[in-house]
Amino acid sequence: MVTSELDNTLEDWERQVDELVRGISQITSLVEIEAIRVTWLGRRGRLTLLAREISPRIRALGALDPDTQRRAGTKLNTWKDAVTAAIEARKIKLDRAALTARLAGERADVTLPVLSGGAGHIHPISQTIDEIIAIFGEMGFAVAEGPHIEEDFYNFTALNIPPEHPARQEHDTFYLPEREDGSRLVLRTHTSPVQIRTMLARKPPLRIIVPGRTFRCDHDATHSPMFHQVEGLVIDRATHMGHLKGCLIEFCRAFFGVDDLPVRFRPSYFPFTEPSAEVDIGCLREGGQLKIGAGADWLEILGSGMVHPRVLLNCGIDPAEYQGFAFGMGIERVAMLKYGIPDLRIFYESDLRWLRHYGFVPLDVPSLVRGPLPAGAMP
Ligand code: DAH
Repeated sequence: MVTSELDNTLEDWERQVDELVRGISQITSLVEIEAIRVTWLGRRGRLTLLAREISPRIRALGALDPDTQRRAGTKLNTWKDAVTAAIEARKIKLDRAALTARLAGERADVTLPVLSGGAGHIHPISQTIDEIIAIFGEMGFAVAEGPHIEEDFYNFTALNIPPEHPARQEHDTFYLPEREDGSRLVLRTHTSPVQIRTMLARKPPLRIIVPGRTFRCDHDATHSPMFHQVEGLVIDRATHMGHLKGCLIEFCRAFFGVDDLPVRFRPSYFPFTEPSAEVDIGCLREGGQLKIGAGADWLEILGSGMVHPRVLLNCGIDPAEYQGFAFGMGIERVAMLKYGIPDLRIFYESDLRWLRHYGFVPLDVPSLVRGPLPAGAMP
């Protein structure tokens, strides 16, 4: 009697579970699936309660009817597993369908035209470097590069700046920790070491420019511990001061876009050149404004000179056979002058509003004469 009553109950439940499992495979909403899980398998779910209710009865069968006892126990577990598996399988299916639908909705058509205004801008430093390369490139110069972390030999000694030379102090050098042999690497204080590297690696004639980063421990409105320079070097037979002057006058006029820009060569001193000259361009300072190419004022923009014979010898070049000239220029400085940027620190602040204003449109190729000027920029 007890057994047949239990059998009926189990049969009834079996039918319900079968129906439920079939039903789950038709459900289309994850919320509904979760509701079913709670209703059937939750802590107060139907199968949980059933187990609690009939377990004592099953246990009571004990020795009387061990077969039915086993069957009943197994059934309960089988139902739980079946409902759990059906729920999981349906969930996976619905999750996948949702993902597919989302991906279809978010599909990007890469053939559509680009949205205007979304493009980035070229940083004025990069733009200025490109312009300088374009001008010297037209004159037959090739771009050379060198490491930022440099041997003392290339940064100083080979450039005729021996350890005791006072010019070393002017360079505000960043030194790396001492090495085992007592020597110290430096962050290059100028791009001039690349002159040495090039002369040691290649045979003249040479005509290179070297744009790149340089480092000095100095920080204010016109100095930054990291800044950029461009170095120039020409080595050939019978190179003389006239070549230096012609080349740099041509450059200044092209870069600032002023055909009759006054350019002045002022005697100066650099350990690696002899004679040496600083180059000034004509300008007008009026009411806090600076106008390049007009007026009676002068503005220094670069250093230059004939390569010192000792530097040539340091690089295995015979000064009786080859001569050369060199120059070095701060890129930030000429960029600030050309584009009317008052403070150097803003170059490195990564302020997108600033970049949108002063930056350049990527696909505008810098022209030989000058890059496109943003509104309101000088000259
Ligand atoms: N290296 C110099 C500096 O950083 C700039 C310079 C001056 C480079 C004269 C040259 C040169 O090649 O000839 O101040």
